[in-house]
Amino acid sequence: MSTASIEAVDAREILDNRLEPTLRVTVETPAGTGQADVPRGRSRGDHEALDLRDGDDRYRGRGVRCAVANVEERIAPALVGRDATAQRSVDACLTDLNDPDDPLGGNAITGVSLAVLRAGAAATDQPLYRYLGGADAHVIPLPFFDLIEGGELAGGGLPFQEHQVVPVGADSVAEAVRMAAEVYYELGDIVRAEYGEASLNVGAEGGYVPTGVDDPRTAFDLELRAVEACGYDGEFALAADVAASQFYDAETGTYALLGERLSPGELLGFYENLADAYPLVSLEDPFDQDDFATTADLTDRLDVQVVGDDLFATTPARLRRGIDHGAGNALLWKVNQVGTVTDAVEAARLATRNGYAVQVSERSGQTPDTWLADLAVGLDAGQIKTGVTRGERTEQYNRLLEIEAELGDAATFGPPADGVFDP
Ligand code: PGA
Ligand code: ZN
Repeated sequence: MSTASIEAVDAREILDNRLEPTLRVTVETPAGTGQADVPRGRSRGDHEALDLRDGDDRYRGRGVRCAVANVEERIAPALVGRDATAQRSVDACLTDLNDPDDPLGGNAITGVSLAVLRAGAAATDQPLYRYLGGADAHVIPLPFFDLIEGGELAGGGLPFQEHQVVPVGADSVAEAVRMAAEVYYELGDIVRAEYGEASLNVGAEGGYVPTGVDDPRTAFDLELRAVEACGYDGEFALAADVAASQFYDAETGTYALLGERLSPGELLGFYENLADAYPLVSLEDPFDQDDFATTADLTDRLDVQVVGDDLFATTPARLRRGIDHGAGNALLWKVNQVGTVTDAVEAARLATRNGYAVQVSERSGQTPDTWLADLAVGLDAGQIKTGVTRGERTEQYNRLLEIEAELGDAATFGPPADGVFDP
């Protein structure tokens, strides 16, 4: 038996940052143990892998005992004896086991797949980023900071979900985090003074929710003022996760924005004006999650990164459709949208081969587990979004700082200069 041969696979129901149940999966081998926590989105797209919940009285139906049982009773017997370093064949086994009539749960699959990856890293005595990315792994991702929140991730009035600042002038993640933190403190002073103390309450990702602000342009203005007050003029660009499916009405085919009903073409016009008026570099999910055509139009007309989150769901087949339509030019990368590490890596490779950028992303529900930071480096993604404050976000930054220090001179920062997003 190889020393990386899987001896046991266990799962437990734990709690995420929202006090909601999720899974913690542990995979044991004689050479090392791997453990991973499973994230969960709130603004989930329609095309994501199934998030299996118990649907009984506990936790208002959100318990994951079924998924835990699937790991222990159905997955574990199939994986014991397999090599934890054979990620692709372990993931293929998970895919084969997954009976559409009695699904294992995407959450169970993601947890096992990530715990196996961690076990493989432990068994070969390597940091996770190097185990995934190989000897050459050296790119520290540029973070997008969601300083002002709206949509389903906050209780305010802003229609767009995330109004991000991007420290394009930073040379390292250490500098990027420091600069963004200073802007965050400054923005706090501004929103408190102008919109009241309650504006300091934060949304799911730790960004502010200024009371009464309901126009994305006001949010961007506030962010730019904070940037200027810090003396970082020109060092920051702006970006947004619009999550437009949230204000799309399928019946009329229109978007409810700022008291009006906009056609897809009118919304495109709104983005064109936005890009003229602001240093906008990236727009995520600008249209409904099934609207490849208008997304393609926007990608063609605007000189910004157009990121597909709900649009692609980290699923190779949907990304392929996007590539064929020319819809978007960047993939938002979330392992649990598709299930296994192998499928998610395949989506990232497909993106890169076709000139698409890759932005690694947190979920609104997660734990302080830091596999995300490692995977971002291992993938060579060059970009990450992982919120702002709250422990489950700051731990990702802490891990990136650690990796950057560990790599020393070998580290480079941010996306490649010849790619879609060239800061
Ligand atoms: P989610 O939100 O994790 O709730 O899906 C994040 C996003 O839409 O990017
Ligand atoms: Zn999104």
